[in-house]
Amino acid sequence: MLVYSLGATGGRAARADADAGARARAAARETLDLGATQYATYCDSCHGPNAVNLGILPDLRYSALLHSSEAWRDVVLGGAMADNGMAGFDAVLDPEQAEAIRAYVIEQANAAR
Ligand code: HEC
Repeated sequence: MLVYSLGATGGRAARADADAGARARAAARETLDLGATQYATYCDSCHGPNAVNLGILPDLRYSALLHSSEAWRDVVLGGAMADNGMAGFDAVLDPEQAEAIRAYVIEQANAAR
């Protein structure tokens, strides 16, 4: 990579920014991988592989709940839709894992556009 620097300080700052960007991307990748694993373990039997629905249940990629991590948690962990057959998963998932699944489903939704 060729880097043009306006000065030593500017160059360092730019490199620090690049490092921070790389770290952020790696962290995002980790979250998505965690979400994919958790989804495959706990969700895809009903909601379909890769978050593509099997034609019976709502397709999670188009769920309005994706827009709110709180509403997502209420359903996925808290069992807010348990009466409809969607049990809460708080016995096996923590909030970070539930959030990772949400990130994963959002990624699948974006990939489908
Ligand atoms: C045993 C089958 C089953 C499993 C496993 C399951 N779900 Fe569900 N899910 C349902 C059913 C049934 C509904 C409710 C359908 C309805 O009322 O329209 C639902 C609804 C939902 C909704 C609401 C969608 C909407 O916008 O209406 C979300 C979000 C959701 N599930 C996420 C998950 C996640 C995340 C997992 C894995 C942690 C999971 N589900 C695992 C059966 C399941």
